[in-house]
Order: sequence, then structure tokens, then C-alpha cells
Amino acid sequence: MSAHGYDLCGSLLLLSTCAMILELSGCTGPQSTLNPAGRGAEDIANLFWVMSAGAVIIWSMVVGLAVYAITLRTRPHDHQQTAIWVIGGGVIAPTVILTCLLIYGLGLLPPLLARAPAGSLTVDVEGHMWWWQVKYPQEDGTVIELANEIRIPVGQPVEFQLSSADVIHAFWIPALGGKMDMFPGRKTRLTLEPTRTGTFRGVCAEYCGTSHALMNFQVVVMEQSEFDEWLENQKSVPRWDENDQRDEGLALFMQAGCGACHSLRGTEANGTIGPDLTHAGSRLGIGADVLPNDADSFMRWISHTNSVKPEVQMPEFRTLTDNELRTLAEFLTNLK
Ligand code: CUA
Repeated sequence: MSAHGYDLCGSLLLLSTCAMILELSGCTGPQSTLNPAGRGAEDIANLFWVMSAGAVIIWSMVVGLAVYAITLRTRPHDHQQTAIWVIGGGVIAPTVILTCLLIYGLGLLPPLLARAPAGSLTVDVEGHMWWWQVKYPQEDGTVIELANEIRIPVGQPVEFQLSSADVIHAFWIPALGGKMDMFPGRKTRLTLEPTRTGTFRGVCAEYCGTSHALMNFQVVVMEQSEFDEWLENQKSVPRWDENDQRDEGLALFMQAGCGACHSLRGTEANGTIGPDLTHAGSRLGIGADVLPNDADSFMRWISHTNSVKPEVQMPEFRTLTDNELRTLAEFLTNLK
């Protein structure tokens, strides 16, 4: 091989190694499939590593043979030897390897698609353009509703019952398991079993319009006792006692018409078009996890909805004064 050829081979090798390191460096954190925190995600991560190892081995063999043919064995091969390489390396080896990978891959599917045992926790999630409506049906027939945040206990299977209010969305918590499409007028199911506590990020994995990429949610995996406590708090209405501006804030909320789209359990606001805001202040983010949950973000969200999330249905309340916005924002952040 000429010096030029070696240079080319070396550069390609270096380039692909750099690309791989760059890609893998983005694979930690709350939204990573390669840092699994659930049974399904562990299987999927293993599949990735098996496939990657297979690809690296096959790639090395092919490149090794190419280098061998170009540098060490430059004279022509005889007909019989060529036939062995073509049939062995081109037909038999790929058939055997791909069949093994297919059997291994298909074997992972049944547990990923299995339903949770009867009596498991069930959470209903409905996709909307562009937010997530989350419901915890209770034994007494009541429903605890929240938005863009899911909390589940660690170490046990949870069945998500998924649907959509408008177009096709897809429910995906990469750190916990596989993804599942959400269709209008039809229910799909996905069972996930978190294996460690922590806060993870969920996303919509199906293009669903302008703000598809701004449709996220947080998933908090908690110890059972913490989860029970949290659920108990969600059942109740927020404690108002020490919040002086409660009445003023609530009056503004009703006066501005927020209650036509949003619910605040325990008040006359009972809208169903937008997210339930009963415990809005206790959530980790606002606007489907687009902004942090604080008064400044609420002010920005209420007055500039459309620039934060293009084409969102919620109108911008630009007629509110700064003082009114501040009162409303503080009222909402206090709904814990
Ligand atoms: Cu919902 Cu993409």
C-alpha cells in the first residue's frame, strides 16, 4: 500500500473513533438509554452493546482483510480460494450472524411488551399538542390529575395507559424503557419497572407539530413511602394558610379567565382544556418542562406563551400589568 493509502486508512480510523467518542459522551444524564434505570431500558442498553460489539468485530475483520489483500497478498487469488471467501464471508457468515442477532433481539420483545400483573399501579397519560395530561385513578373512583410530571414508586411494575387528544404522539422515558405510540380514540399500554430512584426526563418521540420538541415531562422515581406521601398530598387541595396573596391571586386567576381552561380543585376553576393546576407550584417545570418552576418563569409564560412555545393554544395575557402578573405568578408557585 502506498504511503498515501496508509494516511487515508489512518484518518478514517481516527475520524470514526472520534465520532464514536463524541456520540457516547452525550449518553449520560436523565434522558439516557445507556444509563438505564428500568428493566426495559437495561435490556435495550444490552441489545445496543451486543449490536455495537458485533459491528466493531465485523468491521475490524473486513478492514483487516482489506488491508491484508492490499498490502500482504497483492498477487491474484485462485478461483477456488476466491469462491470460499465470497460464499463464506458474503453468504454464510452474514446469515449466521444476522440470524443470531435476530433471535436475540426478538427474544427481548415479550418482556418489553408484557402487561403489569393485576393490581399494579396504573397511570393514564394523554398526549396533547404539546403537553401531557397525567391521571392516577383511585380505588374510590376519584382521579388525581396533574400535568407534565409523573411520579412512581421504585422496584415495581407500573402500567401506563396511553391515548391522545389530537394527533399521534409517542410516550418515551429513555432511562426507563421502550417507547409507545399514543393514538386518538385508541388505548395503548406500556409497562415500565424502575430499578432505582431518581429524576428522569420523558419526551414525545413522534413528530406532532411545531412545538413537538417542547413537549417534555419529568419522571420522579421515589421510595414507596415517599410516593404514598406525595400521592396523599396530591389528593388534597393546597394549604393556603400562610399565603396572604391567595385571595388576590385567585381573584385575578378567575377574572382573567384562566378557570375556563384550567382546574384548581377546591375552587370554581374547573376548565378541562389545559393542564390541571391544583398543585402547579409543586411541579419541577412549567410549560411541559420548558421553563423552570418559579415566579419569573410563570410571568414570562403567561404573557409570552407563544414565543416560549410556538403555536401553543394558550393565549398570551399581555393586558395584565406587571404587578398583576407578579401576583398571579406568586399565587401559582404557592400551589404546593
Ligand atoms: Cu407530541 Cu411529538
